[in-house]
Amino acid sequence: IPVFGGVVKESPMNIVGGLGDVVTSLSRAVQDLNHHVDIILPKYDCLNLSNVKEFQYNRGFSWGGTEIKVWFGKVEGVSVYFLEPQNGFFHAGCIYGCKNDAERFGFFCHAALEFLLQSGFHPDIIHCHDWSSAPVAWLFKDHYMHYGLSKARVVFTIHNLEFGAPFIGKAVAYSDKSTTVSNTYAKEVSGNPAVAPHLYKFHGIINGIDQDIWDPYNDKFIPISYTSENVVEGKQAAKEALQQRLGLKKADLPVVGIITRLTHQKGIHLIKHAIWRTLERNGQVVLLGSAPDPRIQNDFVNLANQLHSSHADRARLCLTYDEPLSHLIYAGADFILVPSIFEPCGLTQLIAMRYGSIPVVRKTGGLYDTVFDVDHDKERANAQGVEPNGFSFDGADAAGVDYALNRAISAWYDGRDWFNSLCKTVMQQDWSWNKPALDYMELYHAARKG
Ligand code: ADP
Ligand code: GLC
Repeated sequence: IPVFGGVVKESPMNIVGGLGDVVTSLSRAVQDLNHHVDIILPKYDCLNLSNVKEFQYNRGFSWGGTEIKVWFGKVEGVSVYFLEPQNGFFHAGCIYGCKNDAERFGFFCHAALEFLLQSGFHPDIIHCHDWSSAPVAWLFKDHYMHYGLSKARVVFTIHNLEFGAPFIGKAVAYSDKSTTVSNTYAKEVSGNPAVAPHLYKFHGIINGIDQDIWDPYNDKFIPISYTSENVVEGKQAAKEALQQRLGLKKADLPVVGIITRLTHQKGIHLIKHAIWRTLERNGQVVLLGSAPDPRIQNDFVNLANQLHSSHADRARLCLTYDEPLSHLIYAGADFILVPSIFEPCGLTQLIAMRYGSIPVVRKTGGLYDTVFDVDHDKERANAQGVEPNGFSFDGADAAGVDYALNRAISAWYDGRDWFNSLCKTVMQQDWSWNKPALDYMELYHAARKG
């Protein structure tokens, strides 16, 4: 019974990005391999519960003088227990970012273990994701392992070492196995003091995407269904719908899409440079970005205004979080740009390929492991059993972006047949959980043996 803790993807007030996608879709993939999975989450007051099926009150228990209500529901077919402590810790209007986060999540972790114990669960694996569930690792080893949950082993996954580093080192130390979300990021962080002493039990396993959620053949947010067989027609219809929806010129132009949290990690200055470069190269650019930092948000609002006066027909910045619109961009864009400064895994390049869009990425972390440059990486791609699938660059500067983006846009203008066959190729590649879920199963088994 692998049990997962973590946070969710999105709520009206908070955006936590790919972690939510991964907890849900990995759980589903493990469940599809005939294992039982339950997810345990705080019942944040800002959760969007509209996607939760069969939502109902489940039970109550108390711990440390606090009553905790437990709610149950199904998310994408996976059972989720939502813990609602009556001390108001998760009635804060946000997922994280409170002054007392350490106390809030410390409490949640304790309550989650207490919930397992008091409700008679006997998990084989407790899989914790990132800092918000990190305390489970040491609470378990110091206490719960000796009181009723002795069968369990703890796996801890780092999704982003930038968040909550102090918690993370201790969780890596106390867990039976620890992972991060790509091989290259595992190497990149191998010298970090949180990880360095524990390399013997630290592994990189690449994320997958849920092929049912991201499926251009069955996607209510795009105008026509398509597979690799009719990718040209499908993407053309999606491009026109995107242009229409955003008030861009309806024209046969290369469209560069960017879908991202707007934070330092994602290469803010490179994104801005790429917008101007795309316009100079006679392309259209669509950015869907949410900035948690108001200064970055203001900066992009100013840029949006500037573009509105100079290039209203070819550039649109949508400064919000909008999942339906993201589907239309993945389908309607020719390229998805991901110029990250660092990227533990990255899901947008994988989703892009599922929709036949060509990734243009900086060579870092999981981007390096999943995108193989058409001009430079044939051997490296073939060694992984795939064909080259995108454009990439090294330097985190304007010259780097130009190097990849110029080649990408030129390829679109100069060789449409070649470009269309590349779209077909990327759609046929398998970036699902099929392989990574087996890697996790192997790791779970190793944790139980070790
Ligand atoms: P991170 O977790 O670092 O933000 P990932 O690439 O792992 O980056 O995951 C990002 C996820 O969030 C993807 O599913 C992407 O489509 C989604 N996403 C990011 N920004 C937005 C946005 N502004 N609107 C809609 N979806 C977004
Ligand atoms: C983090 C990372 C991202 C990764 C995601 C899911 O948010 O920034 O690279 O894809 O977690 O693992």
